Amino acid sequence: MTTNEQPRTQWRGRWGFLLAATGSAVGLGNIWKFPYITGEYGGGAFVLVYLACILAVGVPVMMTEIALGRRGRGSPIDAIRRLVSESGKGSAWSLLGWMAMLCGFLILSFYVVVAGWSFSYLWKMLSGGLAGSSVDDMAAIFVANNENPLNLGFWSTLVTVATMVIVGKGVQAGIEKSVDWMMPGLVIMLLALIGFGIFSGGFGDAVRFLFSFDAGSLSSEGMLTALGHAFFTLSLASGAILTYGSYLPAKASIARTTLSVAVADTVVALMAGLAIFPVIFANGMSPASGPGLIFMSLPLAFQAMPLGTLFGVLFFVMLSMAALTSSISMVEATISWLSDNKGISRRTASWSTGIVLWLVSTLAMLSFNLGADWTLAGKTFFDWLDYLTSRWMMPLGGLGMVLLAGFVLKHETFREELGLSPAWHALWLFMVRYVSPLGILVIFVDALGITRVQFGLHWPWLLAILVVMTLVGELASPRLRRTLSS
Ligand code: PHE
Repeated sequence: MTTNEQPRTQWRGRWGFLLAATGSAVGLGNIWKFPYITGEYGGGAFVLVYLACILAVGVPVMMTEIALGRRGRGSPIDAIRRLVSESGKGSAWSLLGWMAMLCGFLILSFYVVVAGWSFSYLWKMLSGGLAGSSVDDMAAIFVANNENPLNLGFWSTLVTVATMVIVGKGVQAGIEKSVDWMMPGLVIMLLALIGFGIFSGGFGDAVRFLFSFDAGSLSSEGMLTALGHAFFTLSLASGAILTYGSYLPAKASIARTTLSVAVADTVVALMAGLAIFPVIFANGMSPASGPGLIFMSLPLAFQAMPLGTLFGVLFFVMLSMAALTSSISMVEATISWLSDNKGISRRTASWSTGIVLWLVSTLAMLSFNLGADWTLAGKTFFDWLDYLTSRWMMPLGGLGMVLLAGFVLKHETFREELGLSPAWHALWLFMVRYVSPLGILVIFVDALGITRVQFGLHWPWLLAILVVMTLVGELASPRLRRTLSS
């Protein structure tokens, strides 16, 4: 323990954290966003890059964040500031914590709108508002649902209020309980949809689309989107996992927990793809239909399957719950920072944050109706929130975290926190020092158009760069560490 302040609230053992972190990770990112961006960026090759990013960047960053949180025992800002000062380094690094906290808040501002879609579809399912037999009918229903700001605003406000109420209640009462029945439920719903998809005639096309690798279909944009999504779906660089880590009891294994969360998250995303794309292909819908993809396709499946209404209702219940267990984690950094530093209670912190959140999210909601024309560089306010957070803030924040852990902070911190065997520790260190930063940088360089990193073509170069980076880094780092920690 590095601080002598009063002990923070803790999860009930490793299990409590695992549930909460999985609840944070599994959400609209898996079921709404993953299918639609996979559809937009061409399928298999995108999926492969996404999986590579989860492994090479997501997992090391998640371990790092949990370790930073548990060791620093605080919100991202406080935890990083503490650890940096303990290592005798400049406090500028705590900017990383500020960025993460802001990032979580900005994500939540558009996330509540999407979660509002889910709640409103639950209501439509219950009230028979999804009658329609074609993709066009469903598209019309989606558009109509968005057109009225009062309707859409009602649902996003509902989500905002629900989020802040749960958050106000605190870590254990609010969060742990909701997750343990939601995850199995969600998996059962997805299995039912996949089962239906197998008989719908579109399953073969869906599998081919998701898993056949066609390097030509992958753009630089697509690679950066895949990287950003790896951060998004694992709730990284946005304060969520780091702050949840700060409540993790000392004996829980960070590596094992991280792997469980990453595997569960990835399995749910792939299942969602396998559930949704058969419906899309069987109904002749374009995979590149954008953010409305699941809302325009799944109701068709529910209509055609036996007990469809029941499944539909249950599905949207689960999706809404999954959204809530993610949304509460996005503000946890802000709430914990406010209540640790400003001397206010969790409740006051959550209400005051909720008001600001409501204002920003209302602007995001208006992007689908009154404010559809308020665009900058062709993007609405909603698009900007998504773009800034996923493409810029999270990858850059993640880069900062791995560099901080790999080169700046005291080494013993991570040895103790991660508690890995020497060989695994060396692997983690190699990942955070070289592989993750190189991966992030390469994708950025590519996306900024500095040079195209074509698949297949540049592998030897990339490997060579990795080797050179490693040699230089390892030769320089003992000295580097000595200078930095002196
Ligand atoms: N991981 C969540 C999802 O997939 C989104 C999220 C992002 C949650 C950032 C917390 C922080 O839906």
